[in-house]
Formats: sequence, C-alpha cells, structure tokens
Amino acid sequence: VGSGRLTGRHVLVTAGPTEEPIDPVRVIANRSSGKQGFAIAEAAAMAGARVTLIAGPVSLPTPAGVARIDVGTADQMLAAVEAALPADVAILVAAVADWKVKPSSIKLKKSDGPPALQFAPNPDILATLANHPDRPTLLIGFAAETNDVVANATTKRKTKGADWIVANDVSGDVMGGARNQVHLITDDGSDNWPEASKADVAGRLIDRISQEFA
Ligand code: C5P
Repeated sequence: VGSGRLTGRHVLVTAGPTEEPIDPVRVIANRSSGKQGFAIAEAAAMAGARVTLIAGPVSLPTPAGVARIDVGTADQMLAAVEAALPADVAILVAAVADWKVKPSSIKLKKSDGPPALQFAPNPDILATLANHPDRPTLLIGFAAETNDVVANATTKRKTKGADWIVANDVSGDVMGGARNQVHLITDDGSDNWPEASKADVAGRLIDRISQEFA
C-alpha cells in the first residue's frame, strides 16, 4: 500500500455485457465474459490505484482491492460511471448493448406470435465521457473487430474521442477464452502486441498507463 506506480490515481473500468430487458424473463445482451475487464481492474489495483469496476452481469469474483458496482442495462452503467467521476483513467471494456426496447411489464406470450420490438439507441458511454466536463485524463476504449482491425479501430479512436483504443480480433475464440491478441492504437499509430493471457495483456496495458503518469 502506498508505493505502487498508480498510487493516488483513480482508475475506472467497465466490464462485461449489458442486458436490456424485453419483459420480466427475457433480455437482449452481448457476448462478453468480463474476463479482460476484470483482469485490467485487478492489475490496476495491484499497481496501487483506487479502482472502481462497473460490471454488467457476469459470473466472476471481485478482484482484491477493487470496489465493484453491478449494473444491468446500459443506462444503469452510464449512471454508475458518471457517479464514479472524477477519474484519472477510464478503461471502457464493457460490451454495451447498442439498442434497448421498452420492456413489457408482463411476460409476452409465445402464443401471441413473435413480438414486434421497437428499438431505441442506448447512450454511448465512451463518447459521453469524451465530451464530459469531468473527462478522465486518459480515456481508453476497446474495439472488438472481425476484419480490418487496425483500420476500423483507428477510425473509432477519432470518432469516439478516445485517447487510446485497444483493438482485438474476435474472429477466433477470444470471447470467453483465456487469451487475447490486441493492438494498442494511440496518436502515435498502432502497436501490435503478441498473443498472451488476458492477465498479461492487462499487466502490459497497466504498465503503459503507468508510464503515461510517471
Ligand atoms: O462502437 P463500439 O461499440 O465498437 O465501441 C466500443 C467501445 O465503446 C468500447 O470501449 C465500449 O466499452 C464502448 N461503448 C460504450 N457505450 C456504448 C457502446 C460502446 O461505452 N453504448
């Protein structure tokens, strides 16, 4: 305690999927185990940071030294993120649902046939933070891509207003798996990191963040 490289810094991490209710028993969600985000929260805590981890529905234990807030929907995740500001670093790893529906208060009956769902857009938490009066000093987004990974992520860094984007190729079995291969996109260009465990990717990212604050 007290001597880590990120001591005195507040690091905010979002992780896991969000879940949008359709009715009391059905949801729309993204595929996300939360493993990479939880590994990053753990690595930040080990580096001495005060860590707030805002997690969608996942079945993972809370890393030691991390303050965890569980949420369901994207709107709840955004509210929890804004309530946790200010932060020195925000790392938005969560796979947020892009759309929500107005949920039915009673269970839809299968016998009534397929429901005509009316979708409305969810808030973009990363873009909201980029334009926030309390914008984190270092704002980092993730980008899961299946093709043209670096090109798409480089565009995303600009359009979303993030400082860095960690881009990963999810055309393989990254989702739910233990390993990851990422590219770090900054204003200096892109750095291709070797395939590694999610813990090692997290450690390397926290090292890189610590250099930024050194
Ligand atoms: O646009 P896309 O979903 O590919 O962007 C991914 C990045 O944006 C991730 O960092 C993700 O956590 C964040 N995001 C967000 N809020 C959304 C959608 C994505 O914070 N509604």
